[in-house]
Amino acid sequence: MNILEILAKRRDGEVHQTEELRFLARGAATGEIPDYQLAAWLMAAYLRPLSLPETAALTLALADSGRRIDLSDLPEPLLDKHSTGGVGDKTSLVLLPLLASCGVTIVKLSGRGLGITGGTLDKIESVPGLRTDLTPDQAKEQARKIGLALCGQSPDLAPADGVLYALRDVTATVGSVPLIVSSILSKKLAGGSPRVLLDVKCGSGAFRHSLQEATELAVALRAVGAEVGLEVRPVITDMDQPLGRTVGNALEVREALEVLRGELDSRFARFCLELAARALALCGLDAALAERALRSGSALERALVWLEAQGADLRRFDEGRGLPAAPVVREVPAPASGWVRRVDARTVGNVAMRLGAGRLHKSDRIDPRVGVEVLVAVGSRVERSHPVFRVHAASEPDAVSAQESLLRGLELSETPTEPRPTVLLEP
Ligand code: URA
Repeated sequence: MNILEILAKRRDGEVHQTEELRFLARGAATGEIPDYQLAAWLMAAYLRPLSLPETAALTLALADSGRRIDLSDLPEPLLDKHSTGGVGDKTSLVLLPLLASCGVTIVKLSGRGLGITGGTLDKIESVPGLRTDLTPDQAKEQARKIGLALCGQSPDLAPADGVLYALRDVTATVGSVPLIVSSILSKKLAGGSPRVLLDVKCGSGAFRHSLQEATELAVALRAVGAEVGLEVRPVITDMDQPLGRTVGNALEVREALEVLRGELDSRFARFCLELAARALALCGLDAALAERALRSGSALERALVWLEAQGADLRRFDEGRGLPAAPVVREVPAPASGWVRRVDARTVGNVAMRLGAGRLHKSDRIDPRVGVEVLVAVGSRVERSHPVFRVHAASEPDAVSAQESLLRGLELSETPTEPRPTVLLEP
């Protein structure tokens, strides 16, 4: 077997054997196959998409290109929760301690934010003292003791995916469903949990814009998951407007804490409960446990135990009051009265990124203090000159420029509009 034969097969639309995909993944991980040949294969695979059995074989090959964490000796039920990424998506900060307080064991390997999509690691690192540089083995031991752990993606997990993903980024081949599915699921397999709640985001603030695109991805994730031994429950959720009230790292930690403290009236709190119910059902547990854990304080208690276990200084943290805060806070008034028809997630995400809450390039540093509060949602009534956004900025000029851009993402209607549901479809 050699790489030229594999390239020619993909180019001509012939079926790959499992061994060929293993050869490719091994060669990508070790560097034995050069980037130009990997890039050629990626473009051929983009134009001639892999079949379901080929996607399953590639998923396993990518997972086996590195280490797979063995969580089988941790208490059941084990669960992983993954989001395809969006604007203001802090759901994991609530769900991890909430589900752990209901008896679920979670080891979550998370990424950092890139572009308008925030990352759970960046958000939680705004807590003073908190560390996410646990090794997979340390994360596992922590989960054995307290039911949960969050750490960064270790380079020895699915290393071939790391190489292919970086090449896809620069060869216009990110958007292929079989390539996305094998990339996501190979990392889930390496992470060791047998079941995954998969939040597939859909809308302007996500990389799947239409319901049809999101459904195609969700269905493929479940089908390939079943082939590789993962129970995947996909839920398609709205990312046309930002999720919840805040976009920005410390701001989002604050909002997550409100839910953990039992403040359950917001759209974001209801969304957390909807996802928690599905996660608990996937684990064979009673869906009603989640609301009880939030109301009784046991979810908050578990969150504080978790933060302390990962190095947070709880005296400085003071239940969120010690989080870093921006020096300039400016309210943005509504330009007219009306009902909100659209708060564009992409626009808000871009503004938050430019304020410093996100990264344009992988090496950029983020500012945990800055971001945007979105004070209205689709369906709300607003009055002229009442605040619709609150900008948290590092300087006055940053705040002024954010204010102008944010208003471009707001559409008002003279007639009443309907609120958007958060859960769109469960294929
Ligand atoms: N996330 C991943 O991990 N891989 C993809 O290809 C797309 C999103």
